[in-house]
Amino acid sequence: MTADAVGHAPIKSARLISGDLTDDEIAAARLQPATSSDGELDRSLRPRKINEFVGQDNVKAQLEIFITAARKRGEPLDHVLFAGPPGLGKTSLAQIVAEELDVPFVMTAGPALEKKGDVAAFLTALEPNSVFFVDEIHRLPRALEETLYPAMEDRKLPITVGQGAGARVVTLDLPPFTLIGATTRTGLLTTPLRDRFGVFHRLEHYGHDDLAAIVTRSASILECQLDPAGAVEIARRSRGTPRVVNRLLNRVRDYAEVKADGQISEQIAADALNMFEVDAEGLDRMDRAMLETICSKFGGGPVGLSTLAASVGEAEDTIEDVIEPYLLGQGFLQRTPRGRIATTAAFEHLELPVPPDAGLF
Ligand SMILES: Nc1ncnc2c1ncn2[C@@H]1O[C@H](COP(=O)(O)OP(=O)(O)O)[C@@H](O)[C@H]1O
Ligand SMILES: [Mg+2]
Repeated sequence: MTADAVGHAPIKSARLISGDLTDDEIAAARLQPATSSDGELDRSLRPRKINEFVGQDNVKAQLEIFITAARKRGEPLDHVLFAGPPGLGKTSLAQIVAEELDVPFVMTAGPALEKKGDVAAFLTALEPNSVFFVDEIHRLPRALEETLYPAMEDRKLPITVGQGAGARVVTLDLPPFTLIGATTRTGLLTTPLRDRFGVFHRLEHYGHDDLAAIVTRSASILECQLDPAGAVEIARRSRGTPRVVNRLLNRVRDYAEVKADGQISEQIAADALNMFEVDAEGLDRMDRAMLETICSKFGGGPVGLSTLAASVGEAEDTIEDVIEPYLLGQGFLQRTPRGRIATTAAFEHLELPVPPDAGLF
């Protein structure tokens, strides 16, 4: 299934099957109504070169060194793992690495690889020094992880030929390659797999300045008029996420064309985003529904993940991968061994009376 296909799907069904969605698709399903242009938008606005990639300065600085060294030596880059919530630039960075190394980019995703033969087909067909990108690598079947170990370490691929008594294992030599894995959940990766990546980067949510720079770049690519205060307004409300800032720009652009002269000012951005139910802290309807549930139905918590998922009608995966990381980072939510707790800030943001024992669990 492609992100576009889900972009077209009604949100209800997207939610129900979200256990099967890629992180891109989950993100695409969140900001409704999604339009057919969302997948296209991601592609057209995706940074191609490292200097177009805004923010994450430490990650970029390190990658630049590794890329330069690998080029100098004419060797493949060490295997790289990118972790972080959807929409922060994992896929973009993987493509940028291939582009900067000037090597082929071959892409697949954990759930698409079912049999040993699937992995073998990809690996044996790689041109030397290619970047082999495995999105959602935490969803790779365990047995296939084990196929990857010797491939990553020694460029060897043991495969079984024949059946029954005549079966034997032959070891294929693989071309040199760089595996780049992306995951929304490092916790789900086995330690042996994680240990085989020489380079590991966790992408963090972006600050308002970076998001304003991203949305300004996007506006110029889309040839829409966005003034600096408008850029800041959209940036503030984007859940710290580049994909969201671009998507909001697209919505606000429509609004500005219909309700104003196309020029996006601070006021137009704020009006549009209020209408699309993105509040001043950047929380969307689902974020607020989750906080409201914890605050009102469960007296502020603690409440367990499965209970919460059932109450808000959202998949546990989506809560853990998409919704929670931002709410935790913004100080609206805490995770404890007994469950999720809404903080005083959450009650205040929702304009609910703060219970005397809020946050004391
Ligand atoms: N640092 C960045 N600078 C500029 N644009 C970005 C950046 N990170 C992400 N984007 C934009 O957000 C979109 C989603 O990024 P993507 O790499 O697909 O995220 P992920 O793979 O982590 O879900 C991209 O198409 C790109 O337009
Ligand atoms: Mg991605």
